[in-house]
Amino acid sequence: MIVTTATLFRAAYGQYAVGAWNINNMEQALGLFEGHQRAQAPFIVQISKGARKYAGIPMIEAIIRAAEQLYPDAIFAVHLDHGDEATCYACIDSGFYSSVMIDASHEPFEENVTITRRVVERAHAKGISVEAELGMLGGVEEDIALDEKHARLTDPDEAKRFVEETGVDSLAVAIGTSHGAYKFTGQQALHFDRIAAIQERLPGLPLVMHGSSSVPQEEVARINAAGGKLDPSARGVDENDFARAARLGVTKVNIDTDGRLVWTRVHREYFRDYPQEFDFRKPGAVFIEEFARFVVHKSQKLGSFGQLDKLRSAISS
Ligand code: G3H
Ligand code: 13P
Ligand code: ZN
Repeated sequence: MIVTTATLFRAAYGQYAVGAWNINNMEQALGLFEGHQRAQAPFIVQISKGARKYAGIPMIEAIIRAAEQLYPDAIFAVHLDHGDEATCYACIDSGFYSSVMIDASHEPFEENVTITRRVVERAHAKGISVEAELGMLGGVEEDIALDEKHARLTDPDEAKRFVEETGVDSLAVAIGTSHGAYKFTGQQALHFDRIAAIQERLPGLPLVMHGSSSVPQEEVARINAAGGKLDPSARGVDENDFARAARLGVTKVNIDTDGRLVWTRVHREYFRDYPQEFDFRKPGAVFIEEFARFVVHKSQKLGSFGQLDKLRSAISS
């Protein structure tokens, strides 16, 4: 069942975080739905502009619809990740997406407010939820690269004003994370004090943590042992921090890079170990299983594991 992110957030706020997973192909979709069935967890499938371009818009939507048929008990939202205004409108009008993200965080505050408010009006008229972003994450997203010294944490007072003036359903906040595999150097980690200050100004508003991949060291080591050349200093968010962040209002946790690492490790190891092989379904099947296991593990860390029945009752009452 496809629901809005607002529906998922109502059940989760303050207790657990819902995983939001970027997908681009059939194998990711199968692993994602299988993993959440095993975990009995709600989730968010998110589609970036890059995914729409890579798979083609009808194809990426058809993959998700087909996965829903294979897993009829799944409860999930379909979300546009890092949309611009035109893509938000295309998704709102498509009738398929239950939620969109308008990312105008690179614009000055007032312009971000104006653009976001326009999207909120169009989306809410159709019962679709909206996520916006305030502050600037480091790392690379789509074609915008921002190094750490130019990243800017979300200002709690601005966040309050932004939400009041736009009417967004959730807010992506810059709290120390960045996209990709190289998030932190030295002792850096999540800025819990900043999350707490934002929650204090905006009690009950679901916060979104982008750049939440953990970039496990052993995954990087296995990829490199199988011929990869990832920088071994790659570091991500400690997954044991998800629960603390969830209690402070972080209700959506975005994960893409970790899934890409699973894909890279599985395929590199497979073709290293079976150099004579060219039936891509064999590593594909290994990947689907490994991705499903990865999802189950993450659901435990997010606290979404086992929440499906409770959510189903809340939705039907
Ligand atoms: O935040 C960006 C996501 O990881 C999506 O990446 O734009 O390469 O599809 P992408
Ligand atoms: P990661 O690169 O940490 O997986 O973040 C993904 C993300 O924020 C998608 O919007
Ligand atoms: Zn993101």
